[in-house]
Amino acid sequence: MTSRHLRASPSNFWGRFETVSNTVRVRVPAKVNLALRVGGTDAQGFHELGTVFQAVSLGDEIVADEAGPGEFKLVFHGEGAAFLPVDDTNLAIRAAKLLARHVGRDDLGASLTIRKRIPVAGGMAGGSADAAGTLLACSTLWGLGLSREDLQPLAAELGSDVPFILVGGTAIGTGRGVHLAPLMTSGTFHWTFALSHTGLSTPAVFKEFDRTSEPNSTEIPHDLIEALRAGDATALGAALTNDLEAPAIALQPTLAHTLRLGLEAGALGGIVTGSGPTCAFLASSEAHSHEVAEALAVFSGVRAVRRAYGPVAGAQVM
Ligand code: C5P
Repeated sequence: MTSRHLRASPSNFWGRFETVSNTVRVRVPAKVNLALRVGGTDAQGFHELGTVFQAVSLGDEIVADEAGPGEFKLVFHGEGAAFLPVDDTNLAIRAAKLLARHVGRDDLGASLTIRKRIPVAGGMAGGSADAAGTLLACSTLWGLGLSREDLQPLAAELGSDVPFILVGGTAIGTGRGVHLAPLMTSGTFHWTFALSHTGLSTPAVFKEFDRTSEPNSTEIPHDLIEALRAGDATALGAALTNDLEAPAIALQPTLAHTLRLGLEAGALGGIVTGSGPTCAFLASSEAHSHEVAEALAVFSGVRAVRRAYGPVAGAQVM
């Protein structure tokens, strides 16, 4: 759905309005990995994964406007905006250009504005979410008539977390993380996230894993799948698991203290999410997630706390 913006123009001085641009707004969720099992590497050095993603209500907003042929612009507002590149190295710009190339149209362009709430380099798929949202926003803006399924191969080309953000909900990811199977869940889970002062590079965390660990089985623990199906937050808290947690802690030792604090505050489970450094804590209710957040907020090793619930939908045109 696109919204037409109406503005007065000089040729329309007497109060009539004319349509001057299309604007598309897309909301994208962040993700938390409830399980992340890391196996061996493929020929390109990517690891075989077995993961369970959940989309959570902490999200970014992407606004796409028309721009001249071959013109691609990007502006960030909000969380970490000052530190993000806006050139061709940005995944959102790459997503828009990839889509235009995919449909063989050099007459297309886009002006993107992204309002960030997902922590930058935090292990919550912030960059991937913006890329997924840009695919959906530009596809809608340009009236390409592509389905989410049509966008999935492009999403997978952009990064391992991008396809999940298009789908949302709760899903098992295998291979590089891009082969998705939806998981049945009951109820809503309440999360508290502890953000770190500095980010972690995903390749660096995988490298530390390779240096210190043997490849694991990528099987998802049965207890975790059952806990999700039953909507049992206590069982889910006990089943959370992440093979990248130890390497993330090795690179950022404060995370061990953050995890301990959250558990002492009564969280049902605490885990580094993805390649970190954000720590995710499962609470028993929304009120409980406030209590966990208050306990974490006083620790100097935590930059900020956020609360969210999941599962939520994937990228949505608003
Ligand atoms: O796919 P994505 O761009 O998110 O991956 C970032 C980096 O994380 C890769 O360059 C690679 O070093 C590492 N990675 C990996 N195995 C995966 C996914 C990511 O080794 N399945």
